[in-house]
Amino acid sequence: MESCRCCERALLAFALAFNPCLLFGDAMNPLDLDHLVQPDRVHRSVYTDQAIFDLEMEHMFEKTWVYCGHASQVKAVGDYHTLHIGRQPMVMVRDRDQSIRVLYNRCPHRGVQLCGTHSGNTGSGFVCPYHAWSFHLNGKVRAIPLAKGYEGTRFHLDDAQASMVPAARVDSYRGFVFASLSAEGPALLDFLGEAKVAFDDMCDRSPVGEVEVVPVCHRVVQHSNWKFFMENQLDALHPSVTHQSTGVSARRIEDRVKKNQGTAPLYFHYLSTFASSFDQWDSVQTVNFPYGHGILKAYMGLRPTDPDTLEYEGILKKAYGETKAEAYLSRSIHHVLIYPYLSVQSPLQQLRCLRPIGPDKTLSEIWHFRLKGAPEAIYRRALWYFNLVNSPATMINADDLENWTRGQWGLQSKGGDWVSFHRNTGGDTETNGVAYSNNGTSEVVMRNQFKAWQAYIRPAIQTAVSVA
Ligand code: FES
Ligand SMILES: [Fe+2]
Repeated sequence: MESCRCCERALLAFALAFNPCLLFGDAMNPLDLDHLVQPDRVHRSVYTDQAIFDLEMEHMFEKTWVYCGHASQVKAVGDYHTLHIGRQPMVMVRDRDQSIRVLYNRCPHRGVQLCGTHSGNTGSGFVCPYHAWSFHLNGKVRAIPLAKGYEGTRFHLDDAQASMVPAARVDSYRGFVFASLSAEGPALLDFLGEAKVAFDDMCDRSPVGEVEVVPVCHRVVQHSNWKFFMENQLDALHPSVTHQSTGVSARRIEDRVKKNQGTAPLYFHYLSTFASSFDQWDSVQTVNFPYGHGILKAYMGLRPTDPDTLEYEGILKKAYGETKAEAYLSRSIHHVLIYPYLSVQSPLQQLRCLRPIGPDKTLSEIWHFRLKGAPEAIYRRALWYFNLVNSPATMINADDLENWTRGQWGLQSKGGDWVSFHRNTGGDTETNGVAYSNNGTSEVVMRNQFKAWQAYIRPAIQTAVSVA
């Protein structure tokens, strides 16, 4: 594997940052990944160190398949959506042939970003706001003002460097678009593996097998390392602690409404289940796949027998037949994690995507989707969950955010060097590379994520050692 200058600089900084006399004792190799990330504990620096963050961006985010957006975000020719893959500004755009392109959002003239907003329509091509170089929707240069100024120079319009640079690979699965900035690596479906069920589960709940993005995105900048979020999503121990006050209050009101009216709206249940007992959480299984992906199985019981649900289930059965519809409705999924950046709550049509900014700063994009062909009442449920649990205004998300910020502060301190992932070590069942927790609160989730983390980072460290 080749190492670029940026990577070598990051590794040098990394080596300096890990003065073994300060952190590990004299015998410690400053690039000893096996010491930094052990099977049951990791060194705090993997959450706080700028050089390690740079390695993550270069060797994880800028190499693996990264979620760009949903095809319905760019429905019409010229529709675009901007995003970051690692540190790289990109634009996803609908081309004239209906294909979706993912290009670096950078003018090849003097580097100006061509699209300056989150989304919009760029017409039949991109026009740079600086000197009006223009480009087709596939990124190829279209025209340059006063082209005669380049006569006799070594600049040529047919040179690839005159055009916008495309992502090395773009692919999609059931309307969810991914790009990789590396020409090498597994195909998208091999990368997703079993975790592709996130998209199957979401789409199969539509009677026509498709979802459509709701074009409202909550964007939250978390003052914590991206790994806090990823670990938290399948952390079944924290809800009844972190979210206890919300859960208990919601249950109290839910009980009162039930007493007075016979039933309570489902949104009370969204919140009241957070107050489940430790034992209840411990009985929910996590399934931990290669590449750090994972599933937290269902615990909420999202099939009430109200008229809206019964009508919806009837529509699904008509579309797919009794057996298939039943299989779709009874999949045991609450969260699917696609490591290192995506959390999908498919039964509730929610998706959260991380765009790391720095070791202690992470942007999360929070989206939800509409099941095409399903009744409006079913969409309202997705919207309730979006607003009550995942939006930045909720007590649930706010409590998580506070934990992660305080976690970041703690790991930046000198109060200890290690992060513990010891819970239920050795107590999980591993079959064909998949770890099934026998206790829902097992920290196998984090252990599995760091196994994948090491696989991404190890080649960079080995390159650095051979360079030295
Ligand atoms: S920087 Fe884009 S045209 Fe000059
Ligand atoms: Fe939480």
